Amino acid sequence: MADIDIEKEFPSEVIREGKVKVLVPKLDAYGINPSDYAPSKAPVFYNPIMEFNRDLTVLAFQAYQRMVKREISICDPLTSQGIRGIRFAAEIEGVKKVLISDINERAYRLAKYNVQFNCVERLVSVQHKDANCVLSCNASPKKRFDIVDVDPFGTPAPYLGSAIRAIRNHGLLASTATDLAPLCGVHPKACIRKYGGKPLRVEYCHELAVRLLVGCTANLAAKHDIGIQVLFSHSSEHYIRVYAQLAYGAKKADESVKNLGFVLHCFNCLHRETTHQPFDNTRCNECGSRMDFSGPLWLGKIFDQEFIELMLKENKLVAFRNNARIARLLMTARDEAPAPITYYVLDKLSGKLGLPSPSIQAFTNLLRDRGFQAVQTHFNPRGIRTDASSIAIQKLLKEVGNSS
Ligand SMILES: C[S@@+](CC[C@H](N)C(=O)[O-])C[C@H]1O[C@@H](n2cnc3c(N)ncnc32)[C@H](O)[C@@H]1O
Ligand SMILES: [Zn+2]
Repeated sequence: MADIDIEKEFPSEVIREGKVKVLVPKLDAYGINPSDYAPSKAPVFYNPIMEFNRDLTVLAFQAYQRMVKREISICDPLTSQGIRGIRFAAEIEGVKKVLISDINERAYRLAKYNVQFNCVERLVSVQHKDANCVLSCNASPKKRFDIVDVDPFGTPAPYLGSAIRAIRNHGLLASTATDLAPLCGVHPKACIRKYGGKPLRVEYCHELAVRLLVGCTANLAAKHDIGIQVLFSHSSEHYIRVYAQLAYGAKKADESVKNLGFVLHCFNCLHRETTHQPFDNTRCNECGSRMDFSGPLWLGKIFDQEFIELMLKENKLVAFRNNARIARLLMTARDEAPAPITYYVLDKLSGKLGLPSPSIQAFTNLLRDRGFQAVQTHFNPRGIRTDASSIAIQKLLKEVGNSS
């Protein structure tokens, strides 16, 4: 029997997303504007802006299912109104079971209502438990999931250890982090506490944020002799998201831990370096200034081109409101996959030189014409990944500035 009381308990409305229709709190009634969204105002969390995140998740999980070619089980242990897990059941082919849960009693009841509303009770079970409890209860070999999606308020760090334990060999861990103030260096102590690495307030902090989250995941997985590989990651709006595949075995864990290291940054000339070794008072190779650092963090791949191609293929088979935006993001991420770590933001460099900022496309082409590797990045519409040094880029910017 549907819990019809929940329809009357607070202002609500039915929204449509993907192939599902879901009862959610009526945001207008709480004075919530999606762009300045405050989760605490409504009795149950719902953020329409995260449709893009959920669309990409459906594509990534479908791509994963096609890759492993078997029926998959998924856990959404911080489900809120249930929209994510319900979409997995309704939209992804080859899903055999979805377990969704929320610690908030109203969220649990609303999720249960929405499961019935979408007639997916056969595939989706709903629990009212703490996420770590749900995950730990499913950590034995026969119960583990193919995929766990950790989508919390703020940091996923408190759930990653139990999520890893609840994922089978070669399974997938998807995690969202919305605590960008710590990850981007506004609250460095919080970042060190949550992720075990020092952030840096630099123009490419969103990439560092992804690398800090992956580094933390690799460390936690290694404790269980599990290695990780990142299939896809992105930074959009107010959050970052990582899709990491697990591989059981001490050797796999050793290989993955080898990807941990540091990004060194020169605040004088903006030059960067990476190192796997401990370092002390490192001087910039370009200008001799003392370099700051971020890490330990993940220096390995954060995009897998083949996986992104699979997602692009799936994107062509579905009708999402976000199809075009998804295609743009995926193509940019695919192309930046093999490019160097960190990117330069043109406006930052040209601002430093007191020059007008050139067109990103024209300047990327110019770098290529001069023999450098250069691609744009999805992390920043004015960002370029290149093997040109900061000094070489500045030289070229002056050349362009003087000739215009
Ligand atoms: C960001 S919301 C989830 C949004 C949802 N995944 C979506 O796509 O709309 C986080 C949810 O986690 C729940 N939550 C917070 N702490 C929890 C815990 N320890 N265990 C389970 N759920 C928790 C909150 O009640 C909230 O509904
Ligand atoms: Zn320097």
